[in-house]
Amino acid sequence: MDWGMKSRMARIINPDTGKAVMLAFDHGYFLRPTHRLEEPRKTIEPLLPYADTIMLTRGVLRSSVDPESRANVVLRVSGGTSIVGADLSNEGLTTSFKDAIRLNVAGVGISVFVGSEYERQTLLNLAELVNQGEEYGIPVLGITAVGKELEKRDARYLSLCCRICAELGTHIVKTYFCEDFEKVTTSCPVPIVIAGGPKLETEMDVFEMTHSAIEQGAIGVDMGRNIWQNDHPVAMLRAIRSIVHENNSPKQAHDFFLTVREEESRKVASA
Ligand code: R5P
Repeated sequence: MDWGMKSRMARIINPDTGKAVMLAFDHGYFLRPTHRLEEPRKTIEPLLPYADTIMLTRGVLRSSVDPESRANVVLRVSGGTSIVGADLSNEGLTTSFKDAIRLNVAGVGISVFVGSEYERQTLLNLAELVNQGEEYGIPVLGITAVGKELEKRDARYLSLCCRICAELGTHIVKTYFCEDFEKVTTSCPVPIVIAGGPKLETEMDVFEMTHSAIEQGAIGVDMGRNIWQNDHPVAMLRAIRSIVHENNSPKQAHDFFLTVREEESRKVASA
């Protein structure tokens, strides 16, 4: 691996722990202004100090993130479809490498839709992105998207998707947690991070999922709604961070969540 690629990988995966806390804000690229992401700057700013990287589109990056924040960015570079359109899987590349480099990205991310009508197109998009990523020293995050078909998230399907991404040269894979998740991680020779999916019922559910994913071989998270749709997003992110980087148990993470939540409430009361 060349110096630039290694250096960027170290901006995504902390070399001290071998783990990654990525925070996803890219939902608006195909969804409506998602609940609690209606005004991106308001959601993103308080969380920036606790994320290793943020994942979003160039439009939200330029409009809603201060360049002096020193945020590490994984840029979403696929799109072209919407939740009300004919087929979410019909994605193309939306952003040039020239623009990604201008934005000083740590990496780029793209969805693949295995088993969909546009499987071939999205996989070739990924392969082309890897070709360019290798040329410029920019890691590629392959995202195993399921569109509206959330029920697809099982070990058999996800291990197929993750393995294909790895075979095509992606440097990190983002997928969903599922039963028998170890089957997914052991058959994927590149690091895996998990998305959170729609908001779970309790904080403990999120901590347990994160902990199990790490225990079964994930190197971290690239999570969105389960953090910033919570009433206490900073406390949520810091608690998840404690699982990923400090190996906290779900119970320890929950105690930490309550402590940070209390601190935050005191700060608000005294302001
Ligand atoms: C989905 O393809 C988007 O890229 C999201 O970034 C991803 O689903 C992670 O967000 P969440 O944890 O809200 O599912």
